[in-house]
Amino acid sequence: MRISVKTQKSLDGFENNIVLMDEKGKLSLGGRKLPGGKALSGPIETKDFKGELGGTHLLYGPANSRWLLTGLGKGPFTARHWRDAAAAAQKAFAALDITQAAFVLPAEADVFEIVTGLMLSGYVYDRYLPAKKKGKYLSRVILLLPESASKAKADKARKLAEAQAAGTLLARDLMCSPGNLAGPEYLAATAKEIAKNSGGRIKVKIKRQAQLEKEGFDALLTVGRGSRKEAHLIEMEYNPEGKRTLALVGKGITFDSGGISLKPGAAMDEMKYDMGGAAAVLGTFRALAELNYPHRIIGIVPTCENMPGGDAYRPGDIIKARSGVTIEVKNTDAEGRIILADGLDYAKEFNPELIIDVATLTGACVVALGNEAAAILGNEKGEAHYDALVESGKATGERVWPMPMFEEYDYLIESPVADIKNTGGRNGGTITAAKFLQHFADPKPWVHVDIAGAAWGDKERGIRPRGGNGFGVRLFLNFFDRF
Ligand code: BES
Ligand code: MN
Ligand code: ZN
Repeated sequence: MRISVKTQKSLDGFENNIVLMDEKGKLSLGGRKLPGGKALSGPIETKDFKGELGGTHLLYGPANSRWLLTGLGKGPFTARHWRDAAAAAQKAFAALDITQAAFVLPAEADVFEIVTGLMLSGYVYDRYLPAKKKGKYLSRVILLLPESASKAKADKARKLAEAQAAGTLLARDLMCSPGNLAGPEYLAATAKEIAKNSGGRIKVKIKRQAQLEKEGFDALLTVGRGSRKEAHLIEMEYNPEGKRTLALVGKGITFDSGGISLKPGAAMDEMKYDMGGAAAVLGTFRALAELNYPHRIIGIVPTCENMPGGDAYRPGDIIKARSGVTIEVKNTDAEGRIILADGLDYAKEFNPELIIDVATLTGACVVALGNEAAAILGNEKGEAHYDALVESGKATGERVWPMPMFEEYDYLIESPVADIKNTGGRNGGTITAAKFLQHFADPKPWVHVDIAGAAWGDKERGIRPRGGNGFGVRLFLNFFDRF
């Protein structure tokens, strides 16, 4: 999608137009008049359309021009209003096979959110679909602002939104790519590609099997052993000169069969999304490749496939993680926390002021929060960042919500044969998983984001598609501004 900004006194000259309307029926034209004036106002007064957020209503004007009334809902207008209105307009025009449109905006419009809504709506993973089944999108949109608005400011917001959306779209593509086509090596190749196209902003290093063995990444290697695909550790660095360091660690299980503790068959295909944390990290770096932040940002992705092959790890096994902590394996399906153990331990070497890990970690999180929010948990120094994260969630619509990490839960992962065990039973599953991770994140300030429910769903809503949605990219980029 190509988007540009134009400030213009009149609204003449475009065939396909998007116009915003609030629930009072008031059009937001930025002080300008519709061509044909009265001719268009008639149908609005018939109250066929109430301007509700997410709704649209098509009218025709002079010379068969189209005027898509697009609901902005009820004020005061927030990020979500601008974003979801733009998404609805994009989808409505694209459904009519329209490829080009002018988007009439008032001076106060939130250009960042409008561009986000345009670029992220209607997403379909269509790489392997025939032409007639591919997703439909507007390919060219002109944002028509009144002359009183600043074009420079709007262009800046547009560029920022475009970079962030490109990151989210990459994360979606990675998530939706199935396990046979996108294994650990594919994620590593994607990281290299991101660095290559970053104009020197991002450096990447990949550790493969032999290197991981040499450096003691036994937790990651153990989980990867049941698969023919080699485990990898991806390391990315943005802005090495930045004063403050922040590390992102993403779970990269490219397919989670459960291993020897095999999952039931129903919906097992969804476990291709089990690299949603890795996708969030790679997507964030894809955006960073075009953006300037003052911080040094480290991205760590431990990645492998959890399969029940002949050399697979077993329940009962004891693993010594890279940090030296020993783990009793009670269930090979609690594999994410095991690979994150080595990922977190490695991230500490960069001496970050904060480590955030992001993972599709527990089914219990889906039960607790559904598809509408991710859980955040962390150690005490990590909790200091919760308010900012919750605010970022509110602004981006990638909602997060805290869960407790009381010491009272600690006994649940005690093991009679090792330092800790990898499951804490059914109850409080999201908390005990985070408790496990804490052993590897301490003493650094650390926040864990469990995106098991938020990262995909079977319902399209606003800019969120059905399937893998790239949750986390816009959340983290927004958070960097508050850090
Ligand atoms: N990847 C899953 C978590 C998951 C399940 C995410 C369903 C989204 C939807 C994870 O590896 C897992 O299998 N966790 C187990 C842990 C249990 C064995 C302690 C779970 O949550 O059932
Ligand atoms: Mn699992
Ligand atoms: Zn998993």
